[in-house]
Formats: sequence, C-alpha cells, structure tokens
Amino acid sequence: MNASSLRDELARGSIRGYIYSDPGVFARERTHVFGKTWNCLGHESEVPLPGDYVVRYIGDDALIVTRGSSGEVRAFHNVCRHRGMEICRAETGHATQHVCPYHAWTYDLDGHLTGVPMEKPGYGPGGLQKADFGLLPVAQFGIYNGLMFANLDPAAPALRAWLGDFAWYLDLVLARTPLGLEVTGPPQRWITGGNWKMASENFIGDSYHAAFTHRSVMEIGLHPNTMRDWTKGGNRHGVHVQVEPGSLGFTRLAPAQRGYPADLVDLFQATLPPVQARLLSEPEPRWPSRIHLYPNLSFLGGACYVAPGVQIPFLTMRVWRPIGPASMEVWSWVLVEREAHPEFKRLSQRAYMLTFGSSGTEEQDDAENWTSIARASRGPSAGAMEQLLTMNVAQHAPPVVTDWPGPGTAYDTTYADIGQRWLLERWLSDMGPEW
Ligand code: FES
Ligand SMILES: [Fe+2]
Repeated sequence: MNASSLRDELARGSIRGYIYSDPGVFARERTHVFGKTWNCLGHESEVPLPGDYVVRYIGDDALIVTRGSSGEVRAFHNVCRHRGMEICRAETGHATQHVCPYHAWTYDLDGHLTGVPMEKPGYGPGGLQKADFGLLPVAQFGIYNGLMFANLDPAAPALRAWLGDFAWYLDLVLARTPLGLEVTGPPQRWITGGNWKMASENFIGDSYHAAFTHRSVMEIGLHPNTMRDWTKGGNRHGVHVQVEPGSLGFTRLAPAQRGYPADLVDLFQATLPPVQARLLSEPEPRWPSRIHLYPNLSFLGGACYVAPGVQIPFLTMRVWRPIGPASMEVWSWVLVEREAHPEFKRLSQRAYMLTFGSSGTEEQDDAENWTSIARASRGPSAGAMEQLLTMNVAQHAPPVVTDWPGPGTAYDTTYADIGQRWLLERWLSDMGPEW
C-alpha cells in the first residue's frame, strides 16, 4: 500500500487498519508528525516557582521544563552536553541547579554550564569554553493560556500562528475566569495498548461510541444518561465544530446543567467576551464537551455523579504519547478554575477519577476498544482491511449552523466522521507523498 492509495481511499471514506499497528508507519510518524508539530507538554501551573521542573516527552525526546531564575519557563533537552547522560532522573522536583549523575557537570536554572569537575587539569589552563556547552533548548517553546508546548522543528510556524482560529475555542475553555485554570495535581500516567491516532480520533469526533461503549456506566447511574438525551434530541443534541488544527464537540447544556456551581457560572459570564458568554447561556446553551488539537492533545469536559443526585463536572486534558506502533503512554491531567472552592476542586478530581482516571470506568472502556483495534490489525490480512469513515459526511453531511458565533464550520450533529476524516487527511499530508 502506498501513501497516494491511502489518500485516494480516504477521500472515498475508508482507511486501512494497518496504520494503527505498523512499525514502519510508527517510525515515520516520529519524524514527520511529532518531529515537526507543536506538542503539548503540560500546564504552566505544574512549575509555579523558580527551580520547579518536570520532565516531559515528545515521542522519545525528553525535555526538562523548568522555571528559571527570572520566572520564565523554558524547555531544554534532558541530555548532558558531555556524554549524553540524562540529567534529570526524577520526573518532577525543585532544584537550584542540575548536576549530571555521570561526571557531575553542573547547569544553572537557565541552562548555563557552570561547573566542570577537574576542568583545568583536564581541558587545559584556560579551561573549557563553558558558554558553548549549555543545555540545548528545544527548538521552539511557547505557552498559550497556561498550556506549555514545544516544537522540535526550528522552521515550524510560531505557536500562535499554528493555533490560528482554534485559539478562540481554547480561550473559551481555558480562560473563562480571570485567573484561568490550574492542575489539581501531577498528571496520571499509564501505558496502554492502542495507537495514538485511534485515541485522538475517538476524541476528535467519535461521539457515536459513547452510548454503547459506556452503556454500563450510564446504567449504574455514574454518568448522565447520554442515550436518553439523544433519544430526546435525535442527532440534534450536539454541534461539531471543525476548525483547524482540530475540532470540538458541543453539547446542548448550560454550565449549571453540567454541575458548575453558581459562583463559577457567574464568573464565566463576567469574564468571557459577550459573544462567548452567550454561547454558554440560555436560551440555546452550548457546552464544549470534547476538544482535540492535532496531533494528540485532547480535552474532555465531562461530569459524573459522585453521590445520588450530585453531578460534578471535570475538565481532563490528555496527551496520547506514542511509544510504539500499538502502544501509548497516556498523560492525563485535571484542570480546574483557580477561583473554585477547594471542596469543588476536590470533588471535580473525584468525578474524574471515577470515570476518566487511570482506574476510571469509562477510561477502561475506551482503552479496551483501542487496544483491541490495534491487536486486530496486526495480521497482514486484517491489516489490509478497510475501515469505514462515511458517517454524516459528503452526501450525508449534516446542516451547517449558519449563525454559529465562533470561527470554523459548525455542523448541527452529535455524531459524524468529519473530525476523524480531517485528522487522517492532515496526518497523511504530514507523512509526505512517498512511503
Ligand atoms: S555525561 Fe554528564 S557529566 Fe559526563
Ligand atoms: Fe469513550
């Protein structure tokens, strides 16, 4: 199978299963997708003080993300300039300097090489030109509304240019109170089978699965009953917004119906520009429930009953870090408004843990699907089989919402393959013409 055949088939509405498990595809993605795009590293609130650091990854490239002495956050490759040792061996911490475990070369918080043991006996009376051996900063680093991103490609467009019109929606989700969001703690991490594209496609547009894959969760009353809501609204319960480089799904709910307390709802209304505030208000409220930014950053604005009749909302952010053709490391954070009451923050974390935490019911439902699809596509015969992506696209395209207030194209539909098709087209474009 060659790339142009995949493109032709995708234009007709199908994709071959092997792209979710093939080692050659994975090897090319490392350079052509993750080596050239903006990758989310986490949230700025994870490193609040000078000296705080976390170690984050773009594929297998490890980065030290640290707040320097001036308060500025930077990202350096976690590779000693002497013989390539990993400098930070802890995943998170606080340090006044970073000392390599191998021969103790020492770097300050701004990445300068400040200490080389036995420098003059070893490198001559003039010592080493230490200015030439500071930690290497990642090619590009940027922060948007607290989200930290890095790009390994120095020639890639700047972060704000890359986000384009999608930033309007990130503002709606990340900046709806004056202080914005903070993490409730360190990210949960776990390794699971499945390919990063399938998880990303699930979040970019597959609302179709929710009523079936997660049916048991609704039946036991842990999750609001999506099936019942859909039955009431048919395919009109949601709005799918396609806006490069990603997409969103909106649910016809006001924040209070999602379970947000009145003080936060008032703060949303007072903080957001009127056009965005109206989007969250009666008579036609829309709540951004799933958000995906290419390639592998997803958000879910969900809710869960933490006690009978007590529905608590949460916002989880996750990066589907590819670590193999059919495996990924999930990095999953909970974000909450800084102004929220401590008890709401605690309950929001609990609502997440029950559903989309590493042991959460719905997370495990999803992981089983993704693992199974990757496993099923490993065989040469099964891998060549075509999967179908024609729901509510092309001749079945849902109506466009003509008075939608935000950028991009809004479709009046709950479920469709629009986002999945867009993601795969973008991925094929990044993978290049010949492979
Ligand atoms: S490898 Fe780091 S000091 Fe030698
Ligand atoms: Fe799901």
